[in-house]
Amino acid sequence: MAIDTVFLDELRQRTSLTSLFGRRSKLVRSGRNWKACCPFHGEKTPSLYIYDDHYHCFGCGAHGDAISYVMQSEGAGFREAVERLASEAGMEVPADDPQQVEKARVRQTLHDVMEAVQAVYRSRLYQPEGRAGLDYLQKRGLSRDTLERFGLGWSGEGRSLLKALEGKNITAETLVQVGLMRTDEAGRPRGELFFNRVMFPIRDRKGRIISFGGRTLGDGQPKYLNGPETDIFSKRRTLFNIDQARQAVHKGAQAVVVEGYMDVIAMAQAGFGGAVAPLGTALGGEQLELLWRMTDTPVICFDGDGAGQRAALRSCEVALPLLKVGRSLRFCRLEGGDDPDSLIQREGAQGMESRLASARPMEEELFGLLTAQERDPTPERRAALRKRLYELSQMIPDKLLASEYASTLNGMFFARYRRQKTGRGDVRGAVGAVGAGMAPVIPVSGRRMVAEGRGERLNILTAILLQYPEILPGIDRDYNGLSLPEPLSSIRTAILSWADECEGALTAEGCRAWMDGHGLSEAVRQVCGSPMPRQMQVEEGEDRLQAAMKLWWHFYALENLRDLQANVEEEVRRTVDILLRSSSESDETTKRALLAAMQARQAVLFALRRGESPELEEKGS
Ligand code: UTP
Ligand code: MN
Repeated sequence: MAIDTVFLDELRQRTSLTSLFGRRSKLVRSGRNWKACCPFHGEKTPSLYIYDDHYHCFGCGAHGDAISYVMQSEGAGFREAVERLASEAGMEVPADDPQQVEKARVRQTLHDVMEAVQAVYRSRLYQPEGRAGLDYLQKRGLSRDTLERFGLGWSGEGRSLLKALEGKNITAETLVQVGLMRTDEAGRPRGELFFNRVMFPIRDRKGRIISFGGRTLGDGQPKYLNGPETDIFSKRRTLFNIDQARQAVHKGAQAVVVEGYMDVIAMAQAGFGGAVAPLGTALGGEQLELLWRMTDTPVICFDGDGAGQRAALRSCEVALPLLKVGRSLRFCRLEGGDDPDSLIQREGAQGMESRLASARPMEEELFGLLTAQERDPTPERRAALRKRLYELSQMIPDKLLASEYASTLNGMFFARYRRQKTGRGDVRGAVGAVGAGMAPVIPVSGRRMVAEGRGERLNILTAILLQYPEILPGIDRDYNGLSLPEPLSSIRTAILSWADECEGALTAEGCRAWMDGHGLSEAVRQVCGSPMPRQMQVEEGEDRLQAAMKLWWHFYALENLRDLQANVEEEVRRTVDILLRSSSESDETTKRALLAAMQARQAVLFALRRGESPELEEKGS
């Protein structure tokens, strides 16, 4: 019987690991903690570290808490170790709760019943009555080994299960309880659930049978029938093959979620032991938790049809609220109408291997699923898309991770749609061409985290933009390449959406109104709260754009001088190239704006090379 976890936590807390180790080894200080020569392998210099609640040996890998220490060092069983530590700590191990004991006994009985039923189904598959089932499974390419490994069986014709279980003390009521018999209106057992079906046992994490799924041989409906919810079976909380997959993943296999029983089995036969499948329902949160207990990044591999795509999108939506740092999903796309089973039949294990190897991270899959149909979206569609991407990222509870997703998705949107915008005749369009139209967009992975302690500069970069948003088209690519903390990241997402949708001039008032309308007034106030340095006041007039842009580049360059340098070289080449190639009727304003944008950057670069600090610059220079 399991011991109450609250009691165990208390026991661990009251037991001092250092005093336990101190009895056998000499302890030495190591910073805030202690280390000792590891008692589990002979060593002369200490490599076992003792922390508040656990120990770890960097020599032999021994690892655990107080209870496992007693188990490992004295060969005690779990209960024995707990009792020993409890008596030392003056605590009493709580007596088993009789209700709990009874429940466990009942469950065990039900598992035993399932085992007995499984034995019947299994033997029937190899009797004359199961001939059709066996032929079917063999025709689908399953080897004898595989049939055994998954314990496949044959249901029989649906009238003789009780009889086959004779002498085992199993009643019809019990078969109802495990979901293998139905009841009539009066609740009396009547009729078996499965008949003329190939039977797939469903096991829990520990390998105990908790239900069955059955497949018809022909075109009858339903194709697959699964046992109902019972005291031992909850569809939402389990995955087909979780027990074997767990062990395989432990030994290095990739955890993969596929759609169907047959996919799992075909995968296992082809050497992919880590495959699991939901049980006729969409993949849910509890199932994802099960997967994440095995591995940080399971792969989701749904069929290459429309339903598979919808299922993939739904999985993302279920996963987002559960994401944490170091916990994600990858997605593997099959083509056409393939499922893993048919793919393996056709191309063998190699075909599957290559699909798995090209699995994409969740953010890419999400972006791909949402934009698959959006080749040349209208501004309205773009705005809606952007909003949806942002909302999805905000489903992640961890603020930092949510902001990283927001900027990553935003960067993808940017890379895909922004470049299609052509420069218009106005200054905004022309400068935009310098920033977004000509140079390749920075891949999101290239986003740089500016050294810590520079938060103020990132604030200023944002504040300048809020005040002089008209420079945005000239710098948006670089701005987008910065890794920003919150709330700067949310502000950036909002600024970029606003600029995308704003059809008129980009004014500070317009920008502010948008921020207010998107719940960001407080964040903006924070960012612009501290009085602007004097040199940040740009003169009104013709040079305003240039001056503001210079200012922005100054602060940007303080963090990314090398980037700016490369950027300027690139821009000079491109601008000259464009000016040389441009036809005579090409817009004068555009040319001037191109030059202005380039000159602003160049001026900053020269100033910085001369060692001038922007904080000391004369205003407007
Ligand atoms: P599929 O229809 O994709 O089946 O259903 P499949 O695995 O490719 O089956 P084969 O290859 O024709 O034998 C995928 C999963 O959906 C559930 C089952 O769990 C199945 O494995 N399902 C399907 C049902 O629960 N009921 C059904 O009627 C059909
Ligand atoms: Mn199939």
